[in-house]
Amino acid sequence: MAFPSLHSNILCFFAFLLLFGAAYANFSPAYGSFSSDFYSSKCPKALSTIKTAVNNAVAKEQRMGASLLRLHFHDCFVNGCDASVLLDDTSNFTGEKTAGPNVGSLRGYDVIDTIKSQIESLCPGVVSCADILAVAARDSVVALGGPSWSLQLGRRDSTNASFSAANTDLPSPTLDLNGILSGFSNKGFTAKETVALSGAHTIGQARCVVFRDRIYNETNINSTYATSLKSNCSSSGGDDNIAPLDITSPVIFDNAYYKNLLNSKGLLHSDQQLYSGGSTDSQVTTYNTSSSTFTTDFASAMVKMGNLSLLTGSSGQIRTDCRKIN
Ligand code: HEM
Ligand SMILES: *[C@@H]1O[C@H](CO)[C@@H](O)[C@H](O)[C@H]1NC(C)=O
Ligand SMILES: *[C@@H]1O[C@H](CO)[C@@H](O)[C@H](O)[C@H]1NC(C)=O
Ligand SMILES: *[C@@H]1O[C@H](CO)[C@@H](O)[C@H](O)[C@H]1NC(C)=O
Ligand SMILES: *[C@@H]1O[C@H](CO)[C@@H](O)[C@H](O)[C@H]1NC(C)=O
Ligand SMILES: *[C@@H]1O[C@H](CO)[C@@H](O)[C@H](O)[C@H]1NC(C)=O
Ligand SMILES: *[C@@H]1O[C@H](CO)[C@@H](O)[C@H](O)[C@H]1NC(C)=O
Ligand SMILES: *[C@@H]1O[C@H](CO)[C@@H](O)[C@H](O)[C@H]1NC(C)=O
Repeated sequence: MAFPSLHSNILCFFAFLLLFGAAYANFSPAYGSFSSDFYSSKCPKALSTIKTAVNNAVAKEQRMGASLLRLHFHDCFVNGCDASVLLDDTSNFTGEKTAGPNVGSLRGYDVIDTIKSQIESLCPGVVSCADILAVAARDSVVALGGPSWSLQLGRRDSTNASFSAANTDLPSPTLDLNGILSGFSNKGFTAKETVALSGAHTIGQARCVVFRDRIYNETNINSTYATSLKSNCSSSGGDDNIAPLDITSPVIFDNAYYKNLLNSKGLLHSDQQLYSGGSTDSQVTTYNTSSSTFTTDFASAMVKMGNLSLLTGSSGQIRTDCRKIN
């Protein structure tokens, strides 16, 4: 006798909760605005679409995994992860694409355009370019054998970009250790996180123009390594010729970057600075010995990087075309 009545009371109670929850969500734009299931009802195929597209792009050209990872980094360090890096120049502002750290080397824009147009045809106006960058960076690392991590989603896209912040906030390969650490500290990262994030250079390529000084003028470089690099990077020409950041395994996301540093085979001046008798040497040694410590620390630091100054809720917009504001 008592059981059916208790049962319907419970149903009533849950119905009330559901109604109340729905009303609350309607009146509160910030409700659930940054969460791991952000697109699970709004665009259920968003994540699988990005993953498939990234896997296809990496299968076609393995370096693209590195390029997509760098694109997310260069987005987040310049006024936050808001896809500002993807905006083309307009009459109102000069974008970030032609800033020193980006011009002639940042790539992967076409892959993002392809992903965006696939997602727009599934769910128009729902998935931000900034989230696509964050997810594509994660899926790229996974595609090259690195760790995965879970991401909260709901980033929104900026309506502006900053050429000047791209020039000041992205690290230069000529920096010494103190400059590297202070640049990352300005964005909220510890020295340990800075060393972990730098391990991104276990994949990808760099142009002769950014490592020429190191191979001709520095002494803390393995001489066999320096000599081999000179064949494609003369002292006066070949600026755009590329070489792998990790000579050992350039398309595998592993800890070889740190092993190279122990052997004076960092490609960039800034890379070798992490193991040059300073305070970060011991962290490099730890990552040389333990690949799993590196991948765990890298994944955590990437989540933190993907959280930098986000536009959520009703700020910014969901761009229809990642290259221009709506
Ligand atoms: C001290 C910090 C850093 C400096 C000075 C630096 C500098 C550079 C430079 C100069 C290049 C080559 C660009 C060219 O060819 O002109 C490069 C490539 C790259 N960077 Fe960094 N970077 C740093 C940190 C990071 C971080 C934190 C990430 C990602 C989490 C990252 C990801 C990459 C990747 C994946 C590439 C290769 C891209 C490709 O092959 O297309 N870098 N970086
Ligand atoms: C420039 O800004 C004005 C005012 O916000 C806007 O109406 C116009 O569409 C913008 N132009 C471009 C090319 O974005
Ligand atoms: C871009 O817009 C955001 C918010 O609309 C603002 O906080 C930021 O300062 C702007 N950045 C630039 C470079 O104008
Ligand atoms: C090496 O250093 C010398 C002296 O500072 C400089 O003149 C020269 O341009 C440098 N060479 C390269 C390839 O950077
Ligand atoms: C430099 O690297 C080569 C292999 O590339 C190795 O044979 C040599 O022993 C290294 N030199 C030094 C001084 O460690
Ligand atoms: C030399 O540079 C070219 C152009 O970037 C590149 O395709 C090639 O792989 C490089 N060769 C070597 C041996 O590194
Ligand atoms: C680096 O790691 C290797 C194992 O992969 C180990 O043999 C070597 O001793 C380590 N080097 C240092 C300096 O810890
Ligand atoms: C990222 O931001 C979200 C929402 O503000 C927060 O819940 C999460 O703890 C942050 N994660 C990190 C690693 O900062």
